[in-house]
Amino acid sequence: MPRNVLIAPSILSADFARLGEEVRAIDAAGCDWVHVDVMDGHFVPNITVGPQMVAAIRPHTRKVLDVHLMIAPADPYLEAFAKAGCDIITVHAEAGPHLDRSLQLIRSLGKKAGVSLTPQTPESAIEFVLDRLDLALVMSVNPGFGGQAFIPAMVEKIRRVRALIGRRPIHVEVDGGVTPDTAGPCAGAGADVLVAGSAVFKGGKYQENIAAIRAAAMGG
Ligand code: DX5
Ligand code: ZN
Repeated sequence: MPRNVLIAPSILSADFARLGEEVRAIDAAGCDWVHVDVMDGHFVPNITVGPQMVAAIRPHTRKVLDVHLMIAPADPYLEAFAKAGCDIITVHAEAGPHLDRSLQLIRSLGKKAGVSLTPQTPESAIEFVLDRLDLALVMSVNPGFGGQAFIPAMVEKIRRVRALIGRRPIHVEVDGGVTPDTAGPCAGAGADVLVAGSAVFKGGKYQENIAAIRAAAMGG
């Protein structure tokens, strides 16, 4: 199990009419990163926010802005997201034919580069781009919506991704259906960043919810 597990609330579950305030609230509640889900209504069946929204929330936290692009193509928008002030840009392996090029582009823009895998994509999709990677994101639901149930088979995928990475300094992030019940198995399999939307924002008790996920991940 990783010594330190980071919690990244997904603002997809926040009140979009009060996003700045919501970002300040999860920051104060002890989150490690802020996860932003970008959806285009084409790669995934939902539409959310773009670079303008990332730029708007940037002044509200100094924590890592972790931008998850569920868009195809991604390359034409990478510069705009970089300029918007995010820290990590993650593209989907399934979103385009030239993953290696996308990752080079992200790093050339001075950002950390991530690859996300939808549930059916095997871990081998990242085997030959490991040297260009700062983060591997294992989607544990089909991307597009918050509040879906965790797909249990993804625990084994997390384990395989962690094994493939070996000693390289690459984060393994898991996203979708993460709750205090699923956080333990994810961290046990080697995930060191847990994204959670509904489980953080439910009931308005952000600090308590983040602490519960963290405690479960750390085995307590
Ligand atoms: C789904 C998004 C997730 C989502 C997680 O496509 O990538 O980040 O918001 O939401 P929960 O934690 O509710 O499954
Ligand atoms: Zn996400």
